[in-house]
Parts: sequence; C-alpha cells; structure tokens
Amino acid sequence: MPNSSLRQRITSLHADFREHFGSEPAVVVRAPGRANLLGEHTDYNDGFVLPIAIDRCVLFAAAPRTDRQVVLHALDLDETAAFGLDELAPSPAQPWSNYQRGVAHFLQARGHRLRGMNAALTSDVPIGSGLSSSAAVEVATAFAFRALNNLDISLPDLALVCQQAEHEFAGVPCGIMDQFVSALGRRGHALLLDCRSLAYEHVVLPPGVRVVVCDTGVRRELAGSEYRVRRGQCEEAVRRLQAVLPDIRALRDVTPEQLAEHGALLPEIVHRRARHVVHSTARMSEAVAALRRGAAAAFGQAMRECHASLRDDYEVSCPELEALVDAANEVAGCTGSRLTGAGFGGCTVSLVADGAIAEFEQHVVQRYRAQTGREAAVIVCAAEDGAGVI
Ligand code: GLA
Repeated sequence: MPNSSLRQRITSLHADFREHFGSEPAVVVRAPGRANLLGEHTDYNDGFVLPIAIDRCVLFAAAPRTDRQVVLHALDLDETAAFGLDELAPSPAQPWSNYQRGVAHFLQARGHRLRGMNAALTSDVPIGSGLSSSAAVEVATAFAFRALNNLDISLPDLALVCQQAEHEFAGVPCGIMDQFVSALGRRGHALLLDCRSLAYEHVVLPPGVRVVVCDTGVRRELAGSEYRVRRGQCEEAVRRLQAVLPDIRALRDVTPEQLAEHGALLPEIVHRRARHVVHSTARMSEAVAALRRGAAAAFGQAMRECHASLRDDYEVSCPELEALVDAANEVAGCTGSRLTGAGFGGCTVSLVADGAIAEFEQHVVQRYRAQTGREAAVIVCAAEDGAGVI
C-alpha cells in the first residue's frame, strides 16, 4: 500500500498526465534509486555488490498510442519531449529524454515490438547525488514499455537493456549494479549480486538498524571523467597481470596473495586501484555472512575498511565525504559509514541503531556545517522492493 506522500505524488502525476494528454494513464510504474552497502567500483570488474533499493523513486505514468510516437512530460522540469520509435538517437537539446530514447532503442534492438506512448514522470531521487536517479528513470521506462506491450523480457535482461541505454545514450560507462537493484531489489533486504554471472540473492537486513544516507550537497562533476579513468586503470591491471596469470579475465579473478606477489608488474597507481578491487572481492563473503548472522558491528567494520580503501587506494573521496564519514563515526550507535556510489561528492551510507537515529542526524548535520559551511541532507531509508506497476 503506498504511503501518504507516495499517494500524493501519484495523484499529482495523474493530474499532470490528464492535463497534458486529456486522458487517464493506463499504468503507473515506480522504480527506486539505490544505496550501496558494500562492494564499490567492483561491478565493472565482474565482482560483487550489495545494494538496497531505497524508498525514493521515479514515478512514471503511461498510456499507449496508436502511432509510433513517444511523448514525454517531465513534471519536475515542466518540459515535454517527443520522438519517433523509428528514429532513435540521443538528443543534445533534451538530454533528460535520452534515457527513454535509449531504453526504447535497445528494447527494439532485442526484437521487442513497441507501440508509441504518452508518459509523464516525476522523481524524488536527488539528481547527481550518487543514488542512481538515472537508473531509476531507465528502469521505470523499461517497466512501462514492458507493461504496455506485454513484453516477454526477464528482469535481468531488462536491467541490461537499461545499462546499454546509459552507456550509449547517456555516455556513462557504468556497471550493472544500479539498474539491477532498481529492478530486482526486495523490501527489507539487500541484494547480493555477482556482476559476472548475474546470479543474485536477497540478504535480510538485521533488525534494530537503519540505513541512513547523508548527502554532501556536492554534485559529482568529476564522476564522469574520473570514472572512465578508473575503469581504464582496472583494465590495464588485468592486461599486465595476464602476463603471469593467463586465466584471469577481470580483477575479480585475482586474489590478494596473487596481487601481492605480482604487484611489481603494475605502475604504482594502477597497483593501488587493483588493490581496492581485489580486497573488496575478498572482503565480501565474510561481510555478507556477518550480515546474515545479524552481526551489525562486524559488517560495519567491513564498511569502514571499504571506505578507507576507496579514499586511499581508489581515490574517489573528497573533503565533504570525509567530513560526513568522520562525523558519522563519532556517533556511538553508528556501526559503519562510507561513501556510496561513484564518489567525488554525492552521498555516504551509514548503518545506525534505531535508537541512535535522532542523535546521529543532529550530530552529523551540525558537525558537517561546522566543518564545511554546508548543509547535509539526512535520509533515513527503508529498503524497498524493486520496480513494479502500482
Ligand atoms: C556508479 C555506477 C555503478 C557503479 C558505481 C560504483 O553508480 O553507475 O555501476 O560502478 O558507480 O560502485
């Protein structure tokens, strides 16, 4: 049952749809953003990730058309875009509509027949904050096309279509984590995903702790270009290590011992990047076991180690993220805190005991303000189901 603020957003979206298209939508879809608990910059190294779908989402109302036009109204921007399903290419003039164009393109490239549609959308996933607002838009679009055209496509394949759209129509060479969890998350659970095989399991979150996201307010200007550089460095590490480890295909296949033994083959900076990824893979199974046992403290320790390695070896933190993580770690009821997503700004994710939430929020906001002069937004998250028709 949608809660009252979600209900309100759905009502406004219905009204917006009626105003623009003069009829009622046939479906309303929701697709969530995500916060990642563990395994960062590992998805494009064929590794493991452990995100949750959060209770911030894109809402997408749609109705079929009889022609092959797609007409979109973005309620939050108050802009309309229109395109034909036979002439799909990224639009430099309306980049916000490239997610829909890309999803339509790659669904059709897989042989799915689409009808045109009218659609209105709205989102409360903060944009550019590392909570995967773009994946949520892609997944919402794909779910709407799927519902309106009765498409026979599995959810993992749907996530792959959305990832392709992000690569080719938005120009971001992302991994599969964001789209996958937006489509396949489960309420009360994290999703453990093997980014090579796409095998996944839902892991129940321990009772008595909440996932809290804190937004630095710093938008991730560097994220695009530096993300590409990090990916390149990981690929370089694999190429060089293949000289002595011919069977490896990705950093996921390298153990910490192998990296220690052959590290001299890598330039120093590439070695550090590889160390982050290799140790993240090694850390995951024990951390997930701790989570399953409800051992929040042990899991929190893995989060802290992950953050240190993202800061020192992968170098994707920034002073504002550090200020938030330091402030979080000063609260006794916080078991672990780290940056989440690509880094260079955006958000942290923390595990906080139920009884410490109020103190956490007050302390973090105040310390962050004193340290940086900025306001942090604190979002106490619920782990939600992945996308669905409402
Ligand atoms: C972004 C990408 C993901 C993942 C993270 C880092 O969110 O979209 O695929 O690589 O960065 O873990």
